[in-house]
Amino acid sequence: MSYQVDFEPLGRRLRVGRGVSILTAAQQAGVGLVSICGGKGTCGRCKVQVLEGQVSPLSETEAKKLTTDEIARGYRLACQVEILSDLKVHIPPQSLTAAQRTQVEGQELTVPIVPVVVGCDVRLPPPTRKDIRSDLDRVGDHLIETLGLSDLTVDFTVLRQLSTHLREWEWSGTVGVRGREVVSFNPLGRKPLGLAVDLGTTKLAGYLVDLETGQTLAMAGAMNPQIAYGEDVMARIAYAMQGEEQAATLREAVVGAVNDLARNLCTQSSHHPEEIVEAVVVGNTAMHHLFLGLPVRQLGLAPYLPALTDALELKAREVGLEIAPGGYVHLLPIIAGFVGADHVAMILSTEIYEAEGTVLGLDIGTNTEVVLRANGRLISCSTASGPAFEGAHIKDGMRAAEGAIERLRIVASGVEYQTIGDAPPVGLCGSGVLDAVAQLRQLGVVDERGSMGDHPRVRRTEHGPEFVLVAAGEDGNGRDVVLTRGDVGEIQLAKGAIRAGINILLDEAGLSERDIDEVIIAGAFGTYIDVSSAIVIGMFPPLPLERFRQVGNAAGMGARLALISKQQRAKTAEIARRVEYIELTNDSRFVDEFAKAMYLK
Ligand code: FES
Repeated sequence: MSYQVDFEPLGRRLRVGRGVSILTAAQQAGVGLVSICGGKGTCGRCKVQVLEGQVSPLSETEAKKLTTDEIARGYRLACQVEILSDLKVHIPPQSLTAAQRTQVEGQELTVPIVPVVVGCDVRLPPPTRKDIRSDLDRVGDHLIETLGLSDLTVDFTVLRQLSTHLREWEWSGTVGVRGREVVSFNPLGRKPLGLAVDLGTTKLAGYLVDLETGQTLAMAGAMNPQIAYGEDVMARIAYAMQGEEQAATLREAVVGAVNDLARNLCTQSSHHPEEIVEAVVVGNTAMHHLFLGLPVRQLGLAPYLPALTDALELKAREVGLEIAPGGYVHLLPIIAGFVGADHVAMILSTEIYEAEGTVLGLDIGTNTEVVLRANGRLISCSTASGPAFEGAHIKDGMRAAEGAIERLRIVASGVEYQTIGDAPPVGLCGSGVLDAVAQLRQLGVVDERGSMGDHPRVRRTEHGPEFVLVAAGEDGNGRDVVLTRGDVGEIQLAKGAIRAGINILLDEAGLSERDIDEVIIAGAFGTYIDVSSAIVIGMFPPLPLERFRQVGNAAGMGARLALISKQQRAKTAEIARRVEYIELTNDSRFVDEFAKAMYLK
């Protein structure tokens, strides 16, 4: 007898025999379920929610690992549950491995689709002796008839190619119309596409979107090549301030990377960059300015003023974007020198601005933006959390790539861990470092100040103590993977900055951490972390886990919303206007709060 098992939200389905565990079924279906202990029932990380169907009764092991509330909501440990009928299983984000969380992020958006560019197919009668209208009039008359538009204008680059294309394509094609302007002319049936880009200090994320359906056709990430000129925003500003040539180098590097990303997305989905008629770009204020070639000197000096805060719209070709030559690029508004369009996009997509109750939002990256929605106010700040969560400045740190330890647990018999792609361990990505520090803190190997005590796996080196997580050769790895005292210090700095930001916003609103109804965690790193580890080290307030929601790249999602909906785009101006910004470098509370928040408690 076999049963059908559906895994949500990935949409994977397979048939398995009676009595097979959910974990085995997930593995067979190619669902990346976190299972650090390999199915022994000891790590408690393979939590899934059984939505429909019959399964084996709750085991003692599960009763120990799950809370009463989780049990009431149908949560089970996938490795302990036998399948006894057709089943529908929901996998929460924290139980998915890194690679598959990215897939979930690509899910579709649910707003009415009202893009700024609409496509119109034209099939025109060829000219005759009696019909000697110009090529442009011929197209224009068709648009007036079909779309009811008058007073149309045409982008000059479109006009330059129009006559040739009309003849090549036998008097047909698809026109992209933006307001009253014709911005593209492509072969018939090639619908207008949009490009949404999140310019992060370390990474770029791009999405190719069908403007008619709102569907995301492809998504991809890339490293920000500006990293070669400085790791964080301040270093980039300092480099750009060296002269015009250096500023141009930074601009060309990032514009080139966005063009590569657009080409890559088009290749993935069998499209052409000329079909992209509109781009929405978000990023922190420095990235925004460097992308546009705006001066950044004033951003690097108190009081850190941006050149402008309003949304900006210009022809994509003016900034060097290689999309449809008549297409536009829209940059969402920014809030302040250190809180940019990415924050506005994050507030838009998470709907924090409309939330009831007290909601805290965090977009964790090299700079972490924090927003608090409380008593009808929206208060934001930005805090320099550094690149440790990207794996930088960590001895065996690495990006979230194959072989990176992404989940880890220290047990009596040793260290249990899970790597990306199940490859032999080569290092630690941000979520792995966070788990390691939390585990060592819980075991008492690391104290409140971050000092490392004794343990059979702790060895003393000339650079200080380090904990051997995986010894060379233990699991097919060529070298030791360790966590050093210095690594713990880097995490203390990063988490201290984030927690200080949270505490100052709460203080500003006259609230305490207990008043927070929901915590929304955005950003690639924030999506992959184990929230309970972040609570253990004091990065997040100690609230019940069900109050936390991990939402992936919310800035990228906001950029996509602004691409497919005029209404959503209009809301960004309102959000930017409403946010009350606190500049932490001027704030008398910051030094104290930061010093306190560095402790691991
Ligand atoms: S408890 Fe299920 S895999 Fe660890």
